[in-house]
Amino acid sequence: MALLEILEYPDPRLRKIAAPVEQVTPEIQTLIDDMFETMYDAPGIGLAATQVDQHIQLIVMDLSEDKSEPHVFINPEVTVLEGDPEKMQEGCLSVPGYYEDVERIEHVLIKALNREGEAFELEATGLLAVCIQHEMDHLNGKLFIDYLSKLKRTRIKKKLEKQQKAQASAS
Ligand code: NI
Repeated sequence: MALLEILEYPDPRLRKIAAPVEQVTPEIQTLIDDMFETMYDAPGIGLAATQVDQHIQLIVMDLSEDKSEPHVFINPEVTVLEGDPEKMQEGCLSVPGYYEDVERIEHVLIKALNREGEAFELEATGLLAVCIQHEMDHLNGKLFIDYLSKLKRTRIKKKLEKQQKAQASAS
């Protein structure tokens, strides 16, 4: 397995639209394993393929505290079961160090393929529902900071660019 580089905002590659997976190949299963390793190492609770510069509809997630609940979502689709939005604080491995409230649908039905390419359905509420919406946004080239005011987003962009410059010159 290998650790992958996580793209950071404002990298334009985070804005690419992911293509559906036509077949779950051994190469994709290797990518899944590498994404889990990268996510656990970060550490984070969710990672979309977009964030590691692979532009296919693939998400990995584990909301447990002991790496015991790995979830794979390939070609995910979400249906709203209950329309009431809920505000929750979100963060993102591609926007390190920032946590902001975002409104998301509280109760959804997820349809996707698993690591073996088999279709499954999962009803989600709370953190799982929020997380799948956040990660699916990544597949559409969208970030959670897009929901913030332009002023706030610009401030985050400037600080991260400064940080990235400092890191680049230090390495
Ligand atoms: Ni994210």
